[in-house]
Amino acid sequence: MATDDTLLEVNDLKVSFFTPVGEVKAVGGVSYALNYGEVMGIVGESGSGKSVEAYAVMRLLESPGRVVGGSVRFEGHDLLAYSQRDMEKIRGNRMSMIFQNPMESLNPVYTIGNQLMDVLLEHAKDNGVEITKQAASDKALEMLRLVGITNPERRMKQHPHELSGGMRQRVMIAMGLICEPQLLIADEPTTALDVTIQAQILELMKSIQRKTGMAIIFITHNLAVIAEICDTVVVMYGGHVVEQGTVEDIFYHPTHPYTQGLLRSMPRLDEQKGERLIPIEGTPINMLEPNPGCPFAPRCERCMKICVNRNPPKITLDRGDDSKGFSAAGHRIACWLPFKDFSPNSGGRP
Ligand SMILES: Nc1ncnc2c1ncn2[C@@H]1O[C@H](COP(=O)(O)OP(=O)(O)OP(=O)(O)O)[C@@H](O)[C@H]1O
Ligand SMILES: [Mg+2]
Repeated sequence: MATDDTLLEVNDLKVSFFTPVGEVKAVGGVSYALNYGEVMGIVGESGSGKSVEAYAVMRLLESPGRVVGGSVRFEGHDLLAYSQRDMEKIRGNRMSMIFQNPMESLNPVYTIGNQLMDVLLEHAKDNGVEITKQAASDKALEMLRLVGITNPERRMKQHPHELSGGMRQRVMIAMGLICEPQLLIADEPTTALDVTIQAQILELMKSIQRKTGMAIIFITHNLAVIAEICDTVVVMYGGHVVEQGTVEDIFYHPTHPYTQGLLRSMPRLDEQKGERLIPIEGTPINMLEPNPGCPFAPRCERCMKICVNRNPPKITLDRGDDSKGFSAAGHRIACWLPFKDFSPNSGGRP
């Protein structure tokens, strides 16, 4: 439920792609709340709908993708009702996104300096503020320094292809941060980088977050990254949220069988670049014809009859006395299992 602290509230968000072979239900009803200054992780294996959900929140979905249900409230405003023009003002201003692939999102024909300055000049124009080219250039240099780019004066004059992958990712982070947004969505910002640079960039994002107090949604496959940087976690499977809670909830009391499987297959920060989670047995669901019950049922080792036939209920778990740092949404799972295991003497934790 939204409070004065709530920055972003996503409620039962549904996204489909209308393809020639049918409706792909990529996001099937996602809900979460994010407070000002909070860092939330979204985790789940490839194809679980993490990026599509984030694109929907940023209103960046392209055809044939469409929001088909639910709501997105940012600072109390209904973003889905905004015009594209109003959305452009909010993006890169109050909220910004670092994309999964920096080469796709940097413009190859402009210099790094020009692209950073453009973001600033646009932002100033939207806010009715005068800013000189010199001031924009100084700020761009300052940002490049902040993200740890060496010799930033020279980098300003270079084009994206002249930079290494790590440098480009740092430029993307600088672009995402330059207007000091309230919310940054970072979609796998470090996966393509080697381990040392990954760790450096995480450190950097953490320190900028502490300094500016912005909220971050951090999308990743990597639970070690989540443990490192996040306050709360949303676990997605097949376009649905299967579990959500604080980092403590998810790491010390994982309750959904999918989360438990993810934790068992957790890669570490020091593993080779490009490694993915060791997959849980079975194949991911077919989003063209999802089964009527729990999306994870066909792969769940604790699957019951009801799981295959009926959507699982969303349950808020009782934390007992050992809880610290409640997430806005509480520790919740979408699962039938508690109805099987629950006993009044179990301390309230199914
Ligand atoms: N243009 C598209 N047309 C049809 N379906 C799409 C399209 N883009 C995405 N999808 C569907 O949306 C699902 C979710 O995709 P999404 O990119 O959000 O996954 P993800 O969780 O971000 O995965 P990854 O970890 O690999 O980035 C995909 O499995 C696919 O079925
Ligand atoms: Mg993705």
